[in-house]
Amino acid sequence: MSFWTRKGRIVITCAKGVPPFLKQEILSLGFPILSGGMAEVETEGTMEDTQKLNLFIRTGQRVLFLLESFGARTPDELYKRMSRISWEEYIQEDGYFSVTSSVFNPTIKDSRFANVKCKDAIVDRIKEKKGRRPDTGPERNKIVVHLHWRGNTGQVFLDTSGEPLSRRGYRMIPLKAPMQETLAAAAILSTGWTGDGSFINPMCGSGTLAIEAALIGLDRAPGLLRGNYGFMHLKGFDEPSWKVLRRKIRAEAKDRLNGRIIATDISQQAVEAAKKNAMTAGVDRFIEFGICDFSETPVPNGGGVVLLNPEYGERMGETEKLKEAYRGMGDFFKKKCQGYKGYLFTGNLDLAKRVGLRTKRRILFYNGPIECRLLEYDLYEGSRRREAND
Ligand SMILES: C[S@@+](CC[C@H](N)C(=O)[O-])C[C@H]1O[C@@H](n2cnc3c(N)ncnc32)[C@H](O)[C@@H]1O
Repeated sequence: MSFWTRKGRIVITCAKGVPPFLKQEILSLGFPILSGGMAEVETEGTMEDTQKLNLFIRTGQRVLFLLESFGARTPDELYKRMSRISWEEYIQEDGYFSVTSSVFNPTIKDSRFANVKCKDAIVDRIKEKKGRRPDTGPERNKIVVHLHWRGNTGQVFLDTSGEPLSRRGYRMIPLKAPMQETLAAAAILSTGWTGDGSFINPMCGSGTLAIEAALIGLDRAPGLLRGNYGFMHLKGFDEPSWKVLRRKIRAEAKDRLNGRIIATDISQQAVEAAKKNAMTAGVDRFIEFGICDFSETPVPNGGGVVLLNPEYGERMGETEKLKEAYRGMGDFFKKKCQGYKGYLFTGNLDLAKRVGLRTKRRILFYNGPIECRLLEYDLYEGSRRREAND
């Protein structure tokens, strides 16, 4: 049986805080949940299934297919165990691969050393079996082998994504403090918005939230935006079937939205970048862009979600100056967004208190190393401003 059709364990990694939303996605694609961690969810399927997962998953970073688990205490043992894997089945002798790792082993100070051991084992094995050695290097645009080595247990995966899935390929102009695409998708999914009602995104920056909302509302698989994945470089990759799968998924997407998506920013440069990014993502005609202060953003009747991702004084902007702006966001929610669910994504809870509205839900996310919250405000008719210590 080819390794493409053998069922195995699949680990999908993600940012901390994201697993609940990633689990929902995995389940809705018809895959089981085997286990979950702080920053990953485990499911099972074949290498062929990983193609579907790479195309559809919005909130995950990498789709890893488990090849082997083994015991290894030292780098030499690691080399030996790695050499036993029949790499010649997976990697062409004239191919290219890179090795990544996450290592928590007392004998290893620098995980690059573990990568070198793995790389040597793979190259030596293929040279012995095929008489020629594949190339290796740091680029992750071809085959990627991932080692997870914790204590005495090693797990070796094929990283079927290659480049992380957050690199959708549409953000040509990132601007300052952009939100990662996968995090933006998780934030939107956590609001429950799937296309009904409007999605309003003042302070849109480079447009990540609006673009991800459009992809969600149109049921478009974000992975279709990319043409390259790690699995495409493995031996036995069936390109014709991959093309059929992509065509089928493309044909199943919607070509109209039920609600409106409105994205504004005070910076003309940001709006121009957001428009270009949306164009690259093929969703520009579904987003109404505008240059204005957040408080002037049009909010149509009918309800939906309003999501703001302001600066939070960690990476840009001054906290003092931002206090007034956060207070203004509370006014905007209260006065202009009645009937909507209001959300603020911020890494600064002190500033968030300035909004002065009662939070209904607080969802923990991480934007890189920064602990953030997505705060939900219920903006039903007559919601009250609360004291700043809420
Ligand atoms: C943290 S960035 C948003 C990043 C965005 N989520 C992305 O992925 O690119 C905050 C944005 O708020 C905008 N902004 C700051 N003050 C504003 C105001 N008073 N009205 C509207 N936009 C404002 C900035 O120009 C910046 O683009």
